[in-house]
Amino acid sequence: MHLIKAIIFQFIILTKIASYASAASTPFSSTPSISTLINQQCWPWYAIRDLLRADVFDGGSCAKNARAALRLTFHDAVGYSQAQEDLGKYVGGGADGSILQFPQELSYGLRAIITTLSSFVANYPLATSTISFGDLVAFAGTLGLSYCSRAPEMMFYAGRPAAKGPAADGLVSGPEDSADDMIARFSDAGFSADELVALLASHSVAAASTLDAAILGAPLDTTPEKFDTRFFNETLSKGKLWPGTPNHYGEVMSPARGQVRLQSDFVLARDARTAPAWRRYANDADLMRRDFAETFLKMTLVGQNVSELVDCTEVLRSSI
Ligand code: HEM
Ligand SMILES: *[C@@H]1O[C@H](CO)[C@@H](O)[C@H](O)[C@H]1NC(C)=O
Ligand SMILES: *[C@@H]1O[C@H](CO)[C@@H](O)[C@H](O)[C@H]1NC(C)=O
Repeated sequence: MHLIKAIIFQFIILTKIASYASAASTPFSSTPSISTLINQQCWPWYAIRDLLRADVFDGGSCAKNARAALRLTFHDAVGYSQAQEDLGKYVGGGADGSILQFPQELSYGLRAIITTLSSFVANYPLATSTISFGDLVAFAGTLGLSYCSRAPEMMFYAGRPAAKGPAADGLVSGPEDSADDMIARFSDAGFSADELVALLASHSVAAASTLDAAILGAPLDTTPEKFDTRFFNETLSKGKLWPGTPNHYGEVMSPARGQVRLQSDFVLARDARTAPAWRRYANDADLMRRDFAETFLKMTLVGQNVSELVDCTEVLRSSI
């Protein structure tokens, strides 16, 4: 079964590459001709985009894999420490794809998407020359979110080199962490308290599967398929009940059955350093989208030198 699937996958990819290759010499084709691109180095990403949409994102839906790919960008990028770098110690290269490249890096419930994206690369014939793991993590997260309704317009840069090593354990904030710990950890990774809040707009398209086994996949707000302000709004209300079974690690009471409230979101919604931004986003969808897009781009560039990367945002904007 797996072998047959792999063969079909190879076939689809080769056909797809062939169709793009012929499109390159066919100026009036509906697929992009390489000479019409803003940046020719972005060309392979059109094919990768279509293959990911078909094979990983169910034809372009804001579902499980889109959410997991988005969360993966965070776990990859936060594997960086300014303080350790200042001491001359390497604990991780940030948004470098190490979470895909090094199986020993902790995966925090992201094993399924790691496996899916790793086999995607393994099956892609141009893998070694065109896709780095770092680019793939950033691209898949960005593309996945673009399928959610009301998603902001995000940017994508390509050209990240291979990761130098796995990120050390203990760099990813967990749902049981205090506001002090989360704010300090994000600061060490290069993000202010306000930027942490902006990034948490991602929890608007989120569900939890590692906390309460009785309600696997329960959303963090009432509209997990929409990138809207409900997450910020709802986390401000009073928690009334345990949505599944009581007292799980990293979880607090939520406003509705079947909806999970992370302890981390609960404390950040109420901490004096993060509450003002939290309340602003609850009431301003445009601001939330704008700040998220900007801060998310910054997150996908942690540890990278943007002047050495190529802006391939055109791949996300192109109607082709
Ligand atoms: C203080 C920082 C953060 C903490 C403590 C945290 C914690 C969590 C936890 C516990 C879950 C549920 C996982 C599960 O049980 O399956 C989750 C889901 C998620 N998180 Fe975060 N998170 C943080 C920041 C971020 C950031 C910066 C992003 C930005 C990309 C992000 C994106 C997501 C997404 C998209 C999901 C949903 C995953 C899914 O539905 O499969 N998180 N987060
Ligand atoms: C959340 O939204 C509801 C309904 O639109 C509104 O009544 C409430 O005031 C909002 N809460 C906050 C804290 O913004
Ligand atoms: C970033 O790359 C540019 C272009 O190669 C280079 O001039 C610059 O010194 C680099 N910056 C850092 C901080 O490495």
